[in-house]
Amino acid sequence: MTLWEGRLGSTTAAEVLAFTVSLPFDRRLASDDLRGSKGHVRGLARSGIVTADEAALLLGALDRTEDELAGGTFAFQPGDEDIHTAVERRVTEIAGDVGAKLHTGRSRNDQVATDLRLYARRELAEVARRVVHLQSVLLRRAEEVGETYLPGYTHLQRAQPVLLAHHLMAHGWALSRDVDRLVHTIDRLNVSPLGAGALAGSSLPLDPDAVAAELGFAGRFENSLDAVSDRDFVAEALFDLSLLGVHLSRLGEELVLWSSEEFGFVKIDNAFATGSSMLPQKKNPDVAELARGKAGRLIGHLTGLLATLKGLPLAYNRDLQEDKEPLFDSVEQVGHALVATAGMVGTLEFEAARMQQAADGPSVAAVDLAEWLTERGMPFRQAHGVVGSLVRDSLERHVPLGELVQAHPALGADAVGLLEPGVAVTRRTTPGGAGPKPVAVQMERFRHRLEVDAKRIDGAGSGVPSPPEGR
Ligand code: ARG
Repeated sequence: MTLWEGRLGSTTAAEVLAFTVSLPFDRRLASDDLRGSKGHVRGLARSGIVTADEAALLLGALDRTEDELAGGTFAFQPGDEDIHTAVERRVTEIAGDVGAKLHTGRSRNDQVATDLRLYARRELAEVARRVVHLQSVLLRRAEEVGETYLPGYTHLQRAQPVLLAHHLMAHGWALSRDVDRLVHTIDRLNVSPLGAGALAGSSLPLDPDAVAAELGFAGRFENSLDAVSDRDFVAEALFDLSLLGVHLSRLGEELVLWSSEEFGFVKIDNAFATGSSMLPQKKNPDVAELARGKAGRLIGHLTGLLATLKGLPLAYNRDLQEDKEPLFDSVEQVGHALVATAGMVGTLEFEAARMQQAADGPSVAAVDLAEWLTERGMPFRQAHGVVGSLVRDSLERHVPLGELVQAHPALGADAVGLLEPGVAVTRRTTPGGAGPKPVAVQMERFRHRLEVDAKRIDGAGSGVPSPPEGR
């Protein structure tokens, strides 16, 4: 039996159901669908559209349906096209004739939009919590490694030494922008579409404001056509998750490089590495690689949804059913990636000696020599030229840079000290810079930011807008 038997008779072809069914994936919305339906029934009762007794029967049937779904005893039927139809069918079986009143003043169009907003509000907050967990792991590792330094790179060429803590925190700050975006997305999506009906509202005395408040939304839709066709929040969520995925991918890529024999900067813990089925000696960084690899899929989900949305006329079109799988999959994949990455980063063994050795080559202090000359009155461009030609000379004639610095009239013995291992990094003293002093300040600010963000996530979608930037 279909919901539209009255209009079309029972003639839907079997292959139509096979093609249009969404139950295999939208079952994930079951708890949100029940929550939305309960809010709707209470609204119907308040408006006098159903009696208090009828509402009690409907709510009882919804509770029982919820128990069956949660306990795995819910018997889905072959004709259940989606979770909404399945729930309504079961409620009608349990509550009898009164069940037929559940869908009064409502369409699956405003229903599914409501369900998906409830789902996104909850799940994006959970993703954000996992981001904060990964950030706290990065912070802990940064605290543990103290003043260990390594080369900072541009163009993947050694550039200047930086503290390892500074490098770890750089990933941490990128993630804090992800949290910020997720919180704002949750705040923006926290609007109830319920009461928009199929597209135009209702002739019945519904009260969408009260239903919105009951479901914990900050308010109701302003325009019923927009309410049932708006999937901006899904696109935004997919963008947030894609960019978060890109950040995990970049971190993953570095760990792939760092754990190679060529770099040898980290050892990945055995619990977070895998072996080879053929090569007995192999230890592979698969977690880091998949953190990198998943980003492609996440970006695909975002572009796929945007392509689905771009040609749609108002209001609801069945194309919109294609919003769910990308969202569910992105939420799930990012959720796993965050937990696995946090575990991997939390157990990395940093090879401090190897990192520092790579950063101790005298030429990474070249800019310090140039700045030393600048402090003594030489224009920077000229100082750059002086040091550049010393480096070239050293490479071409195989003479240690220190000797050339020592012999140079404008530099001499005092300047040679800049080339000593570990000196250059201590000279990065400006705010936000890579040396010990600014990094200590930075870590304090980051710690504070994590505390603020944890509270913002808990408050997101509560109707209280989060303060911009959370600072
Ligand atoms: N399964 C549908 C979806 O996900 C529910 C809404 C169906 N509405 C309709 N008018 N056919 O979008």
